[in-house]
Amino acid sequence: MKETGPFALTIDGRETTVAPGTTIIEAAAGLGIDIPHLCYCPGLKSTGSCRLCIVEIEGLRSPVVACKREATPGIVVHTDSPTIREARRFVVELLLSRHPRECLTCDKNGVCQLQRYAYELGAQADRFPVEPPNHPVDDRNLFIFRDPNYCILCGCCIRICHLQGAGVIDFINRGLKTKVGTPWDRPLDQSDCDFCGSCIEVCPTAALIEQRRRGRGREWELHRSTSVCGHCGAVCAVNFYLKGGEVVRVGAPQRVDYLCARGRFGWVHLSHPERLTRPLVKKNGTLVGVNWGEALDAVANGLLAVRDKWGPDSVGGIIGTGVSNEVAQAFLSLMRIGLRTNNLGISPGLKGLADVLHDLDTVYGGKRATLEDIASADVLLVIGDAVRRSPVVWAKVKRALANGTNLIYVGFYNGRLAKTASIWLRSRPEAIEAVLHQMAAMLLRLDEGGRLPGRRLEGFSDYKTALQRAFSMTISDGEGLEAKDLAAACAAFGDLSRKAVVIFAADGVSRGTAAAAVNLALLTGRTERAIYPVVSGANATGILTLLKTGKTSTEAAMSAVKMLTGTNVRGLYILAEDPLSFFPDPERWRGLINELEFLVVQDMFLTPTAALADVVLPASSHVEEDGSFINAAGHPVRFDQAVPPVGMGNLNTLAQIAARLGSQALGGEAHGPTAEIERLVSGRAVPGTSKPALFLPSVSNLTKGNTPGISLVGYASRFYPVHDTRLRFSGFARLEPYGGDCIALSPIDAGALGIAEGADVVVQSPYSKASARVKIDNGLLPGVALVSPDAPVALAILGGSWPLGPVPIQLTVART
Ligand code: FES
Repeated sequence: MKETGPFALTIDGRETTVAPGTTIIEAAAGLGIDIPHLCYCPGLKSTGSCRLCIVEIEGLRSPVVACKREATPGIVVHTDSPTIREARRFVVELLLSRHPRECLTCDKNGVCQLQRYAYELGAQADRFPVEPPNHPVDDRNLFIFRDPNYCILCGCCIRICHLQGAGVIDFINRGLKTKVGTPWDRPLDQSDCDFCGSCIEVCPTAALIEQRRRGRGREWELHRSTSVCGHCGAVCAVNFYLKGGEVVRVGAPQRVDYLCARGRFGWVHLSHPERLTRPLVKKNGTLVGVNWGEALDAVANGLLAVRDKWGPDSVGGIIGTGVSNEVAQAFLSLMRIGLRTNNLGISPGLKGLADVLHDLDTVYGGKRATLEDIASADVLLVIGDAVRRSPVVWAKVKRALANGTNLIYVGFYNGRLAKTASIWLRSRPEAIEAVLHQMAAMLLRLDEGGRLPGRRLEGFSDYKTALQRAFSMTISDGEGLEAKDLAAACAAFGDLSRKAVVIFAADGVSRGTAAAAVNLALLTGRTERAIYPVVSGANATGILTLLKTGKTSTEAAMSAVKMLTGTNVRGLYILAEDPLSFFPDPERWRGLINELEFLVVQDMFLTPTAALADVVLPASSHVEEDGSFINAAGHPVRFDQAVPPVGMGNLNTLAQIAARLGSQALGGEAHGPTAEIERLVSGRAVPGTSKPALFLPSVSNLTKGNTPGISLVGYASRFYPVHDTRLRFSGFARLEPYGGDCIALSPIDAGALGIAEGADVVVQSPYSKASARVKIDNGLLPGVALVSPDAPVALAILGGSWPLGPVPIQLTVART
């Protein structure tokens, strides 16, 4: 009979009480007894394959594997008898017969589990004939160094790859030739690997290690510090391992916690030789290195000269979304108090994000879903490319799938989501909103059976009208969307007893699509923690909230453009932003910047925009200062300085400038939390704590999406998100299929146009035209073309709808 309550057992003479389902290895760990193990990894399903964790149970004739065997009441376990030690020694000696003898030069020396047990058990290294497997190493990529000769076939990497990664590795071959490999044993960079590096974290030997970590320090030489990742709005916790102040490797707080490729490998910029370490001032048309005092004087004098000559409105500031709330607040105070201007802007590409987050706050207040809500959901509705913009979301979706969640995917790409979803609602990008409305309309019709109260729509006539329009549209739009799929999606999502989370990229869908998704959740009574808005910028939510003082965030997003085109701004301070690389129509920006009287750029690198500045100030990374972000779930995340700063630090730099502007109080504010920051990080600044249960108005004209021609959309890379200078130094571009000047077409469209892979084409949109190189992508629905949102071709031809699209395009093969 199965135990239902806690029970006692004895391990090595000590009694302990455990809950039913506890394994012997877990019970022993509770007593502080570490049973030797190689293939066991807490958090991963046990396979019991290495046999190192064998223990004896009194009354049983044979040893059992402690990592799989559940404890039972009253058993008496011996974990370290002479018989057991001899059996373990035998296992280790067999492994050693296939293992390289290079502990002296091995990077994992001191933390290798095989080395540890060989020593602890007194293993004889040459008890069996030594036959190294002689497998080729995989060192082609910049991130994961894979040497199968060190592999002990524990399978931990395979299990974690399937649990939360791409699921690209498995055991291949047979017998002595068995190894861990990708399909057809290709190198990782030719597989579908996400380079999340989770496999490195669980590898007990040196078979998998960080490529850039090799030869840079043994584990005992590394100093650990903790911070958060700043490469997307998820703001995951990270551990930095430093030697001599430089980051040698990065890990998650727990071995089986997920970090994406950016979080694990996206830190090369911190100590890159091109990083700015001293200020530059333009002299006789050339930027030359100067000391900090001279540069800060030049900044203050230059900005004051413009303001005094033309008035406060002649000065403005643009801020990036990767800086902390504290740095942002110091910058905004510098501009508002020190220079008396409210000309403050962010990238125009964030206008859509500002609108969507504003709408979301209107109806959901601060009660957005979290990543843990995704992992524990019964039903997930994922829209568009959300999981690519924030890969940790994909990891959480996979956790949910492992628990049997129902995944509904609405989108146009036959990739992982489509392949793992129980229901794929095929939809071109411009039709997604209509598909979501069709679901809502169908659910309301189910109301005739009494499941959903139709009166909820009373007073929301525009939403009602949109639903009626969507419902009258042909459900099958010719692209494969089937009525039965829509009905199945409604049946899953309409089951109100199931916990549902809707996931979309808040900066990757139109405002109308986001509103349709939010309304669908509200319609089914999901009024809390039902929406997870993926946000690409680490602190976009915090910056937008801070900018709301004095103006709406949408106005702030637009003011970056307006301040140079519609106002008389002649002096500009750009902090951690690069309009020439990341704003649409870069050449227009070059012309606008050239007309300025004075430009200050504070950045980590001499970006194309910084190269035009009168003064360039080195910027610090968020990990080099204490601070806080607001993550995509709307929660404040505080962090401490984790890496020694390069230069003066952002906060100190802004305080020094403020002091030179005669604003002494501002200098104090910059070093300590202001009331605004306190409100923000305590959650009091997040609007809508008393949430009105409203529907959002429908804001767009619906389309079925089966319009003729090809629509171009910005489609985020899983490696290289929108808008990030820092990642350019990490080498992700080599893995990026749509980067640079690439445009992806479906095979059907390419065939119809007679365009081959690699062909040079001219892409004409209503805004502009640009050259591009064709990549044929079998995952695309016909009629949709993709570009990376920050690729030059996207900036040029998506025009006013950058970074999303869709825009209609025409393609012609370029003459050679
Ligand atoms: Fe239990 Fe490997 S650790 S069998």
